[in-house]
Formats: sequence, structure tokens, C-alpha cells
Amino acid sequence: MMNVAVRCENLTKTYDTGEQKVTALNNVNLEIRLAELMMLVGPSGCGKTTLISIIAGILNQDTGLCELFGENLLTMKSADKLRFRATKIGFVFQAFNLLPALNAAENVAVPLIINGVKREVAQRRAIDVLERVGLGERWKSLPAQLSGGQQQRVAIARALVHSPNLIVCDEPTSALDHKSGHNVMNLLKEVAVDDNRALVIVTHDARIFSFADRIAEMDDGHIISISDSPKTA
Ligand SMILES: Nc1ncnc2c1ncn2[C@@H]1O[C@H](COP(=O)(O)OP(=O)(O)OP(=O)(O)O)[C@@H](O)[C@H]1O
Ligand SMILES: [Mg+2]
Repeated sequence: MMNVAVRCENLTKTYDTGEQKVTALNNVNLEIRLAELMMLVGPSGCGKTTLISIIAGILNQDTGLCELFGENLLTMKSADKLRFRATKIGFVFQAFNLLPALNAAENVAVPLIINGVKREVAQRRAIDVLERVGLGERWKSLPAQLSGGQQQRVAIARALVHSPNLIVCDEPTSALDHKSGHNVMNLLKEVAVDDNRALVIVTHDARIFSFADRIAEMDDGHIISISDSPKTA
């Protein structure tokens, strides 16, 4: 129990657009341990983003249980849930979701500002993390002035800046070359995986599979297998 970061039991989720019902999760069971880097793989549309959105408290499941560090976000009061998410979770969105009017450092500082850190302190820390993803010199740039891979690294810096206990990344290396991808994975592993932390990464990128402790394979709304990492690299 104490070594479990995330526990999902019999999770289901159906999207109902009015015209159509799409079952995205159909009875998902998954445990992510503390100090673990879990990768989640599977074909487009199999439910990966849906699952990690529920894990991170961005989306509610229809049925089933999802516990983070022993807490059930679904039954938490909304103020408690907001605080829990702001302090404990970092999320890298598939589409980056940077705020276009804010420069790189201001984007990265958002989780700190939400947690009440003073502006100047937040900015300094944001620039430190931007340095670690190789963008120290670009902290004043707006997202539109950055390449796709640079925007992706800003999004990763934003997920790390407040030292959350769980970092959830949706395709964090999709826009990165081999070297930047490896740098980002080394950084994520170094800062996001320890006895109190865990990291979940959705990816199609076979170049980073060797960073995983375990790989969960999804298909059609299910977890179909969980295997140990192929320690090839
Ligand atoms: N907001 C939504 N409304 C309706 N259907 C949705 C919505 N979001 C996702 N879906 C559907 O749910 C299913 C699972 O989607 P999801 O985004 O979780 O897949 P994914 O595994 O992340 O795919 P990809 O690898 O392409 O990102 C898909 O069939 C998708 O079309
Ligand atoms: Mg997705």
C-alpha cells in the first residue's frame, strides 16, 4: 500500500457527444509504484490520454476507483482537489497547452504562482529549470517564437518546476530529436523518480523505451499487458 503512487481499479469512461457514444476506457486496472517510471503504449485512440487525464484529476471516470497517494480525487472537495493537484501533480499535455501571451519563463512559473510563490522567486526558479532543458537563453521568448521542440521543453519544465510527486507526460519527446529526447528523459528520471515520486509517460517513441521500469500496453480501452523494460540502450 505505502509503495503505491497510483491505483486504478475497474476504471471506465464513455464519451457521449449526443450523437455517438465512445467507450474510451473499459475496465482498466493499473498500479504505478513509487520510484517507478511507467510507460503507457498502444495504438491511437486506445484510451491513453483519457486514462492519464483521470489519473491526474483533469477528467472524472464514470465508474471505478482511482487513488493517488492513497487519496480519492473524485470524492475530494473541489478546493482540496485543486490544492492537491497544484502541489502534487505535473502534467505535460500532448498539445503542450502553453499560454500564448506569456513568455517561456512566465509559462514555466505558472505552477509556482498558483502555489503562492512570489513572482521574482518563481521567475528565478523557472529560468533555472529552463536552463536544465537547454532553454536558459530563451526565457523571454513567447511560445510562437519557439520551435515545436522548444515549446515541448517549456511544457516539460512547467511540469517539473514545483517538484510534484507525480508527473504525467503525454508524448513528451514527440517533437524532440534523439539527443534532446535523451536529455529530457535523463532529467525527468533524475528529478521525478525517487522514493516519494513516480512518473507516467505515454509514448510511441521506441527510442526512449529503455528508460522505463515497466511498460503497460493498452488496446481498445484495456491494459493488455505489463512488462519489464527492454534494457537495450
Ligand atoms: N472529448 C471527447 N469526446 C468524444 N470522444 C472522445 C473525446 N476524447 C477522446 N475521445 C475518444 O475516446 C477514445 C480514446 O481517446 P484518447 O484520446 O484517450 O486516445 P489516445 O490513446 O490518447 O490516442 P492518441 O495516441 O491518438 O493520442 C478515442 O476513440 C477518441 O476518439
Ligand atoms: Mg492521446
